[in-house]
Amino acid sequence: MINKICCIGAGYVGGPTMAVIAQKCPEIQVTVVDINETRIARWNDEDVNNIPIYEPGLVDVVRETRGRNLFFSTEVDKAIEEAEMIFISVNTPTKTYGVGKGMAADLKYIELCARQIARVAKTDKIVVEKSTLPVRTARAIKDILDNTGNGVKYQILSNPEFLAEGTAVEDLHAPDRVLIGGDTQTEEGRNAMQALVDVYAHWVPKGQILTTNVWSSELSKLTANAFLAQRVSSINSLSELCEVTEADVDEVAKAIGMDSRIGPKFLKSSVGFGGSCFQKDILNLVYIAKSYGLDEVADYWEQVIIMNDHQKARFASKLISTLYNTVSGKKIAFLGWAFKKDTNDTRESAAIYVADILLSEQAKLSVYDPKVQEHQIYFDLDYLATRSEEENKNGVTVTNDPYESCKDAHAIAVLTEWDEFKDLDWQRIYDNMLKPAFVFDGRRLLDGDQLKNIGFSYHTIGK
Ligand SMILES: NC(=O)c1ccc[n+]([C@@H]2O[C@H](COP(=O)([O-])OP(=O)(O)OC[C@H]3O[C@@H](n4cnc5c(N)ncnc54)[C@H](O)[C@@H]3O)[C@@H](O)[C@H]2O)c1
Repeated sequence: MINKICCIGAGYVGGPTMAVIAQKCPEIQVTVVDINETRIARWNDEDVNNIPIYEPGLVDVVRETRGRNLFFSTEVDKAIEEAEMIFISVNTPTKTYGVGKGMAADLKYIELCARQIARVAKTDKIVVEKSTLPVRTARAIKDILDNTGNGVKYQILSNPEFLAEGTAVEDLHAPDRVLIGGDTQTEEGRNAMQALVDVYAHWVPKGQILTTNVWSSELSKLTANAFLAQRVSSINSLSELCEVTEADVDEVAKAIGMDSRIGPKFLKSSVGFGGSCFQKDILNLVYIAKSYGLDEVADYWEQVIIMNDHQKARFASKLISTLYNTVSGKKIAFLGWAFKKDTNDTRESAAIYVADILLSEQAKLSVYDPKVQEHQIYFDLDYLATRSEEENKNGVTVTNDPYESCKDAHAIAVLTEWDEFKDLDWQRIYDNMLKPAFVFDGRRLLDGDQLKNIGFSYHTIGK
């Protein structure tokens, strides 16, 4: 029986998953640790509304559990030492240097965790890979842990997380499935898997907890993201075809989605997918396929990314060409910066890339997002290193009022599908814009007919 869990990494995955485990398993003490002191301080903020991650419902779970059996701390060693089960939930970004640059997952944070566990642990541990990892990473972790010579025994499990940001709490409360990979060949391996099954069985029906070998589990996570992203790129590829014919991509999506073999979800055409995972995990899959010499497999999946990049660039190009081939000096309002609604996460958001193209064309951007903070927007642009920080500051203003953002603008670009954008006073916005007033709806969110009646020149994707 597990009494104490430690989770290394208090991010978008570690925070919500551990909060829900603590909520559903009140007898287990769960400590989430991170080296980022600011992040931990925010998780511990007296006002629970200031926790660093915005997810609908998360504040309630943290309010219920924090200080009861959920703790956030920077004392990594202590938490590792005390726990019987350690989740590794650190980031695994795409490598930005050396071999595999721009493709392979950077495993340095994972390796650091393994070495830290190896250094600190005095009692046997179950180590759970919660981060998304390339196939066979568990082997590397095991090698590091087994070579410490201090007699501590480790079991490595793979337990990839399938939550979607924006619906994380809902997904964690009622997951489609929980996947646990482990060493099915030995009794110790099976016992470790059972210990983790028992944690989830507090609230997840047994039939939805799948156990597999470790490699299947690792590969399943990459595959799930690749399939999901592929659907988006598939429908986005057709959106371009719809725009030059008389078809409407939403009508096509509905018609094909009613085929039970295809299904209705993930068929929404847009300016492109974002988020920290899809691109990085597909690139990783491509890299793994290439490293085994499977070039056709690699090329097949790489096309999903190529299509997504094209969709973002195409959206920006269309905006520029519609504004009489120049946006130089023109104010363009951005509604939305997060990569999707109901999250404050901006990693790989389509908005960043569209903004980058428009800034290179000397547009003046005014951004409004209900949950993203100003410094994050500048950070995202500076990270691309296309221009100086000063130039980004000069080219972009951030407001906390959508009407202010749209005032005197030549065009509005909808980059995130926040529900509140549907309920804005569009007449008021129109009255305060330069004419002709253009709307480029990158999410097919707004009522185009209503906007056209007001007088807007309304452009959307796939129509
Ligand atoms: N974000 C998602 O929706 C999602 C969904 C499923 C899986 N994943 C996977 O989960 C993993 C984590 O993703 P995330 O979005 O939570 O990342 P994140 O960047 O939000 O959080 C990772 C945290 O780990 C901390 N960290 C890094 N190295 C550390 C160390 N040595 N000791 C202590 N803390 C350390 C960082 O400071 C950071 O706060 C990734 O592998 C990702 O692919 C993410």
